[in-house]
Amino acid sequence: MNTADLIWLNGEFVAWEDAKVHVLTHAMHYGTGVFEGIRAYETERGTAIFRNQEHLNRLEASAKLYYMDLPYSKQQLREVTHELIVRNGFKSCYIRPLVWRGYGPMGLNPLENPVEAMIAVWEWAPYLGEEGKRDGVRARVSSYRRISSDSLIPHSKASGQYLNSVLAKIESIKAGYQEAILLDDKGHVCEGSGENVFVIKDGVVYTPPQAAAILDGINRKSCIQIARDLGFELIERDIARAELALADEVFLTGTAAELTPLREIDDIPIGEGTPGPITRQIQELFDDALHGRAAQYAEWLDLVPVPSRS
Ligand SMILES: Cc1ncc(COP(=O)(O)O)c(C=O)c1O
Repeated sequence: MNTADLIWLNGEFVAWEDAKVHVLTHAMHYGTGVFEGIRAYETERGTAIFRNQEHLNRLEASAKLYYMDLPYSKQQLREVTHELIVRNGFKSCYIRPLVWRGYGPMGLNPLENPVEAMIAVWEWAPYLGEEGKRDGVRARVSSYRRISSDSLIPHSKASGQYLNSVLAKIESIKAGYQEAILLDDKGHVCEGSGENVFVIKDGVVYTPPQAAAILDGINRKSCIQIARDLGFELIERDIARAELALADEVFLTGTAAELTPLREIDDIPIGEGTPGPITRQIQELFDDALHGRAAQYAEWLDLVPVPSRS
């Protein structure tokens, strides 16, 4: 893994190797943390964080659903992120804020444990590879169903909930695939282990609705808007498993994976078995938006201020 010089931990910038917590940290035992995955890109106007405000809003919402207040304001977290990127000398990077229940009473009631926060940044290539973005990846439908709101909170990006994704991911990798697609508790297509999913059939783009057991992805929202701006009909509705294999095109979106096409599901080629033309069109404009080349999406970018030299 690429490292950085500094991490921000509970209000201080510390060396990467000194960013430590106690082994009795509540979140280590019970998963009581919430986090974000954000990316900053090099643009013509400087380094810019993609939809930073939306990510910070989701961090706050995830925390609220687990009875935590953010220990720093969103504006403070935003400024700290800017400073962290500058002090680490990165032009583009992945950004990982984490807010968690720290060392305190043991046991399942976390309400007396302090809420702590850190932000780390590092340079990270697209999660499913540049090759995956170009040629598409192979996925299998996981034997694990996506967590449902009967027992957890799919709309919260909470650490403990990711055991679900971890199991699905391990299963798919061990079976020789690059990604897993999880169905929801009713058997509808839900999402990837860390990505939302879009299906294209006869020129129409479909994605599971916001009220499904998905994480309401920020790149999902962006690609919905981009698809509509490009003139495609986009429908949010439940998707049957068979629709994946019978689709003309399927793609995944997420901060880590960006927009990665799916070329095979359960060993069945999707469409021609290569990324299709609508996927390509959305991917291209989305990439332009990420890298500040699409003026119409300029407000999605949070520019990292360059410190004056005085
Ligand atoms: C389970 C899950 N679904 C979807 C997404 C995509 O969300 P976003 O586009 O906000 O990165 C992620 C990534 O954060 C995820 O972990």
